[in-house]
Amino acid sequence: MRVLSGTQPSGQLHLGNYFGALRQYVALQERYPETLYFIADYHSMTSLRDAALRRRLTEDVALDYLAAGLDPSRAILFRQSDVPEVCELAWILSTVTPMGLLERGHAYKDKVAQGIPAEHGLFAYPVLMAADILLYHSDLVPVGQDQKQHLEMARDMAQRFNHAYGVEALKLPEPHILEDAAIVPGTDGRKMSKSYANTIAMFAPRAEVKKAVMGIVTDSTPVADPKDPTATVFQLWNLFATPQERREMAERARAGGVGYGDVKKDLLARLEAYFAPLRERREQYASRPEAVEAILEEGARRARALALPVLASVREAAGLGTPRARN
Ligand code: TYM
Repeated sequence: MRVLSGTQPSGQLHLGNYFGALRQYVALQERYPETLYFIADYHSMTSLRDAALRRRLTEDVALDYLAAGLDPSRAILFRQSDVPEVCELAWILSTVTPMGLLERGHAYKDKVAQGIPAEHGLFAYPVLMAADILLYHSDLVPVGQDQKQHLEMARDMAQRFNHAYGVEALKLPEPHILEDAAIVPGTDGRKMSKSYANTIAMFAPRAEVKKAVMGIVTDSTPVADPKDPTATVFQLWNLFATPQERREMAERARAGGVGYGDVKKDLLARLEAYFAPLRERREQYASRPEAVEAILEEGARRARALALPVLASVREAAGLGTPRARN
């Protein structure tokens, strides 16, 4: 069983990334012998054009991975661009991918709907993502709900390639979505996302985290009145509560007498306590950038060793390059 997933270095990681994905990465590294987690720096090129910033954000994701508890002696941690063969597979997949499939892609459709001109890279984003997954013969891909469509596309592309060349060179991956995490809402109630500026970045300076938590949008229901237990502030609070605590809070909300301000304060206290040990681990790694770089380089070496035979079989199936010795 091989597990793989990735995160874009396009801004500080937030509670959506953590509860939607990162937390599962850590759990899965205990359960499966082969786990690969990478930093999708090629993908970040569709939204970020500042090279120095990309390098910094890439290091940040590496630190966030390590802080969250990914263990380089178990999981393979690497930078996507350190295995550039993924771009070759992306090209090969693009030749079996119908335009119509990509035209249905959320990210591309959203940009076009907003009247923003889209580059080919954004249009082809799901093809590169499929290449990430298929290059390593991944069995299981842990991601948040928002990436489900991309996984279906990856399965579709694998099937199309295999069918076109009459081979089983690419393996169809399974999504792994944590049901109770669903989509983590941002401070404005929409999906928490760097592009909506509604994130709570758990490793940001404490004052910034506090500002984000206190800024969670609530309605003007007076303290004494009943409240909707599915309101954003409760959904975020629930992330740090046990099932029993969630049930009690929902009852109290419905009954009235709970103030949003108090829920926010308690949420902040729980969030700080939860992330304190992770923050400490992050600081330890941040003070040793060479050690972090060495982890990524070793990860890329191991990832590449898994990728090369898969790419070789794809090239062979498609009649590319020097033929393998015939027997
Ligand atoms: P990215 O960088 O946007 O997000 C990383 C992970 O965080 C999850 N996530 C969320 N989950 C729940 N609620 C939210 N509000 C929320 N926001 C983000 C995402 O579902 C994701 O799992 N295209 C990917 C990166 C990628 C990738 C891959 C992933 C590139 N190649 C191959 C898996 C396999 C992305 O942009 O994730």
